[in-house]
Amino acid sequence: MTAAAPQPKYRKDYTAPDYFIRHIDMTVDIGETTEVEALLDIERNPDRPSGQPLQLDGENMKLLSIELDGKFLTEADFEVHAKGLNIPSLPDRCQLRTRVVIDPHNNTALEGLYRSGDILCTQCEAEGFRHITYYLDRPDVMASFRTTIKADRSTYPVLLSNGNPIAEDAEGDRHWITWDDPHPKPCYLFALVAGDLARVEDTYTTASGRDVALRFYVDHGNESRCTHAMQSLKAAMAWDERVYGLEYDLDVYMVVAVSAFNMGAMENKGLNLFNDRFVLADDTSATDEDYIHIEDVIGHEYFHNYTGNRVTLRDWFQLSLKESLTVFREQSFSADQGLGAVKRIGEVRQLRRVQFPEDASPMAHPVRPESYIEMNNFYTPTVYEKGAQVIGMMHTILGDAAFVHAVQEYLEKFDGQAVTIEDFVATLEQSSGQDLQQFRLWYSQAGTPRLTVTEHYDADAQVYELVIKQHVPDTPGQKNKQPMHIPLVLGLLDDSGQPVSLDIETAAEVTPQSPTQALVHLRETETTLRFPNRPSRPVVSLLRGFSAPVKLDLPHDKSDLHFLVRHDVDPFSRWDAGQTLLLRAALEAEQALRAGNAPAFDEALGETFSALLETAGSDDQALLAEMLALPGETYIAEQLDVVDPDAVVGAYQALRQYLAGAMGEHLKAAYEALRPGGAYRIDAGSIGRRRLQRQVMDYLAAYDPDALAGYCWQQYDKADNMTDTIGALAAINDLPGDTREQLFADFEQRWRENHLVMDKWLRLQSTARRDDILERLEQLMQHPIFSLRNPNRVRAVIGAFTVDNMPGLHRIDGSGYRFVADYTLKIDQLNGQLSARLVSCLTRWRRYEPQRRQLMRAELERIQQAGNLSSNLYEIVSKSLA
Ligand code: ARG
Ligand code: ZN
Repeated sequence: MTAAAPQPKYRKDYTAPDYFIRHIDMTVDIGETTEVEALLDIERNPDRPSGQPLQLDGENMKLLSIELDGKFLTEADFEVHAKGLNIPSLPDRCQLRTRVVIDPHNNTALEGLYRSGDILCTQCEAEGFRHITYYLDRPDVMASFRTTIKADRSTYPVLLSNGNPIAEDAEGDRHWITWDDPHPKPCYLFALVAGDLARVEDTYTTASGRDVALRFYVDHGNESRCTHAMQSLKAAMAWDERVYGLEYDLDVYMVVAVSAFNMGAMENKGLNLFNDRFVLADDTSATDEDYIHIEDVIGHEYFHNYTGNRVTLRDWFQLSLKESLTVFREQSFSADQGLGAVKRIGEVRQLRRVQFPEDASPMAHPVRPESYIEMNNFYTPTVYEKGAQVIGMMHTILGDAAFVHAVQEYLEKFDGQAVTIEDFVATLEQSSGQDLQQFRLWYSQAGTPRLTVTEHYDADAQVYELVIKQHVPDTPGQKNKQPMHIPLVLGLLDDSGQPVSLDIETAAEVTPQSPTQALVHLRETETTLRFPNRPSRPVVSLLRGFSAPVKLDLPHDKSDLHFLVRHDVDPFSRWDAGQTLLLRAALEAEQALRAGNAPAFDEALGETFSALLETAGSDDQALLAEMLALPGETYIAEQLDVVDPDAVVGAYQALRQYLAGAMGEHLKAAYEALRPGGAYRIDAGSIGRRRLQRQVMDYLAAYDPDALAGYCWQQYDKADNMTDTIGALAAINDLPGDTREQLFADFEQRWRENHLVMDKWLRLQSTARRDDILERLEQLMQHPIFSLRNPNRVRAVIGAFTVDNMPGLHRIDGSGYRFVADYTLKIDQLNGQLSARLVSCLTRWRRYEPQRRQLMRAELERIQQAGNLSSNLYEIVSKSLA
């Protein structure tokens, strides 16, 4: 690197701002380039010394003029540098007017004001506003915003910003609108949209009887594809009223669907911007999973209106304060919408697949990070998903009613303020009377705690005993951690599979949840639980409902696990017992393969899982689909100290092949029985049936590829919905042959105009297991719909390859790594947020067998030496090589 390396910021260095901005009056004049005039009402912070310089943030802009209280400043009065503008001293109150020029049309990083298709839009979180105008770009500076947008009338008929429109006019082919948002907000919640968009409108009447206009803005022609998003929004509004007593606080709620977007969506006050994949849907083009994601993301952004917007963040180290609480609220909402326990299982699968690896990587960081180089790198599974589990544990500890009440108190107490995670936890503590002192370690200690459980049954004394040890692994910059407060929910089953009423002798605090289920508060390195009066050895069901985000080494032998699969009353633990069985089998197979032996599996395993398949007609088909799904390759790899990808892939395949063989002809009967009876519906029952059918097809591909090809053909042909259509393609994806080629070709013909649907087609092909995968990826990137500038396309081809194509990525000649590094560098020139995400598949190079380790590391070094990296990519690469 020639330029000075980007420097980290530290949480401990927080100081309040020297100046506040109370109001901003902005004019954004859109033309060839865009001129932004900003009039800032500035006030010195009375708690800070006077005479401090004003240091405004501002990047990638050209300053035209600057006036202080109506007088133009000359170059001697201020200093402009690459990251902002300094004025050496200021009066206690003043008005500062700047005029700058920015270039949204050439903004490929997609932060600040940028072009997406034919519209202009903004993304300001985390630090995008400084690309629009000079400002104090930090969340504890809150201002009321007035925004005037001027633009060409025919290219940009729709001009939107936060709040309410208060004036508008037109002259010739130009027009302008002024928006006023009276709620003081941090600038990361600012939004602006200009373009030719269609509007879909509906109304929601709040519990207190106020009408709120709901407006979706989408490309012309997509009006009919907003129905599900609109319904989801209404459901979310009603849910927040019912569960948290929170009513929407403005008269208008706007959602704009944007095609080029780095993230999922953004909760700008009154004007959400969404990646269009989380808005647009109809039966023929959207899958069940799309429908569910849309509901989740719409809910998430809506819930931010209180948890994030009304009460916001003091600084970016507190990001999890708004994100984890909002994810938790989103997940509760989503579970209430129908899929319940199965939804929880999906979340845990995702946490294990993505967050556990992050927590064991060079990028491991606490839920509340201590430092960052590039804030955008910290929108992570740890901050979001682990954070949501941390909230969930407090929900478990407090109980539902006390938790909801405490959140309400928090929102009232801090309304309109920028606060910290500590403020939140302290409020929960005061409101509930629970001691959360030790619990706070969840916010400061990184790494996934591991619980190791041993059991002992004393037949003479009739005592069953569990010893539970906890250990938190070292992570970068953190060693020798303290024991955590871990809520462990458990129950016992007797030998007939019946729940046992619990009587526990222990030094630990125990909260009974029912006669047969208890919450044990683990606080020590070692905890002993004694269960007296047990005439026979019970089987323990641990970590029910996934009561804590930990790794758990169960004491059970295989027969206990088979027993739990059959009898556990808790759906999560029942599923997890099955996963543990499968995982152990996969790990044994992996070991065998590395030793040059053929993998072998117990007959009992085949029997248990075939018996599950026999219940395919039962009512919980969604749960059954989860039970039958194998632990993924990534999760299998996660268990190993040294990863040999060939052995992992081989073990996974062998296990799948073995189970498919055990299920045999029953698979066909099950497939037939699961055929749809009527038209497409998206209720929980129908979704469960389709998921199960898809799982059955996955085994059929291993058991009888020819039969499967026939089913796929028919299913594709008859499908009246995208779930069945894409299900057919997915099932046949790894089976080379005419059927596969014809189905993929037909699909392309039918859908080539619909980019969101084509993303599914791209994604399947990038994850296909084939020897010429890298050539295929290059071909896909030549497809007319592909563009390196569109994050959805890039994620569909390159992103999907990096996370879901283990054999392709880890090709022993290193070509997969080279491919990733080449494109990471190319994309980094355009979009640092995107390149930093793509490269994360290389960051754990130390865990691989020596040959891969060398190859991965060499690519990381090549990236590092290329120089001129974005701060995003620089941070990830330098931390992984450190
Ligand atoms: N706050 C947004 C959410 O609802 C995420 C925005 C993240 N943006 C970014 N550039 N890192 O989750
Ligand atoms: Zn969020």
